[in-house]
Amino acid sequence: MVAIDKNPVATLYLEKNARLNRISNMRIICSDAADVAHDLAHIADHVIMNLPHSADEFLDCALTIVKPGGIIHYYDIREEDDLFDGAEATIKDAASARDMTVRVLDRRIVRSYSPHQYNVVLDVEVCGGLNAEMDRTKILEVEPEDDEIEAIREGEKQFVTGEYVDWKTLKAGN
Ligand SMILES: C[S@@+](CC[C@H](N)C(=O)[O-])C[C@H]1O[C@@H](n2cnc3c(N)ncnc32)[C@H](O)[C@@H]1O
Repeated sequence: MVAIDKNPVATLYLEKNARLNRISNMRIICSDAADVAHDLAHIADHVIMNLPHSADEFLDCALTIVKPGGIIHYYDIREEDDLFDGAEATIKDAASARDMTVRVLDRRIVRSYSPHQYNVVLDVEVCGGLNAEMDRTKILEVEPEDDEIEAIREGEKQFVTGEYVDWKTLKAGN
């Protein structure tokens, strides 16, 4: 499980909460999600997007992080006269820009938010897009050396900087 929040206080309480509940398989990243998404490409079976007022701004991150066949749980604040369709169109547009397709599995009202607004969630399965993603992936020019492979395997470079780490950076030891 990977949790991302840019607020250090939120991550501090998350750590405390995890300890109290004896959760040991959670990696907590204190960073802007947009800065770490590429380091987490295609790792997630589920991506929970719990920032409903600006979820659309992070769709690209979620589509980077989710595995092919994985599910994005998209939380949004919607007006009562368009509870789901607008959000669904936004998700489909973001996916199609990356040659991905989505299938809506479920859409629900979570709670009422204000007299005419609701907090809703759409669960969408994401398919395809690996070819488009490969276009953006840095391709190795040479075979990686053993110690580089080890660093990748150990995960030492993946979550620390908040920046995309490519092979050259790994090789330089930054
Ligand atoms: C509605 S709260 C959800 C908190 C918690 N994740 C949960 O599910 O209970 C939204 C959280 O998103 C965090 N946040 C806002 N913008 C962010 C960004 N660009 N990158 C990462 N976290 C962000 C805020 O600090 C806030 O804690």
